[in-house]
Amino acid sequence: MTGLVLAAAGSGRRFGSEVPKQFLELRGRPLYLHSLETFLTYCGCAVVVVPPDHVDQAEGEVKNLQGGERILVRPGGEQRQDSVRRGLEALPEDADLVLVHDAARPFCSSALIERVIESARLHGGCIPVLPLSDTVKEVEEGQVVRTLERSRLRRVQTPQGFRRPILEEAVRRAAQDGFVGTDEASLVERLGRPVRTVEGEAANVKITWREDL
Ligand code: CTP
Ligand code: MG
Repeated sequence: MTGLVLAAAGSGRRFGSEVPKQFLELRGRPLYLHSLETFLTYCGCAVVVVPPDHVDQAEGEVKNLQGGERILVRPGGEQRQDSVRRGLEALPEDADLVLVHDAARPFCSSALIERVIESARLHGGCIPVLPLSDTVKEVEEGQVVRTLERSRLRRVQTPQGFRRPILEEAVRRAAQDGFVGTDEASLVERLGRPVRTVEGEAANVKITWREDL
């Protein structure tokens, strides 16, 4: 069975709204519910990780979704990685494949979820990626250090999918070593485990700044 950890425990510092961005209404419902509903078709269980003071509210909201009885709500942690670890710990035993998704990406399609699940089952780990259109340079104190080879670079999205034991080991080892990554794949990569890529989606944007909505 595939399990989902929906990371919705951030405070949205860059977005800067009173209510964290994932709880803002979009077309009549909180942002985080949009992706959750899409995932429930493919995931037998889900853990939604939210800020500790939003647990009661989220429990009330997910109850009303179709498949709501398969959703748990848990308080998140300081770093995204801590939130994901808590979600992972709460996933039912029979979830052997795990998808981790940013609640701040409400427009993820069913086709993308299917691609990630299929490849993660096959290879152990999978992430959606897109090519870059801008040139990327390494900069130090306002000075260009070097230009990176754009054709070899990709920008990375969620959902990211992993066989559960791989992700669990990666999360445990990162905590042990004090390593903080910006996505789950980076924790898996440092174990030397393979991470495959599938094509991401331009529409699968992460709501980060006010302009994004
Ligand atoms: N997230 C989380 N727990 C944290 C931090 C982030 O679950 N401690 C989640 C966010 O809720 C979001 C996703 O991870 O759905 C991607 O993070 P990001 O877009 O950076 O959201 P925030 O961390 O909330 O925003 P900011 O970095 O601007 O504060
Ligand atoms: Mg953040």
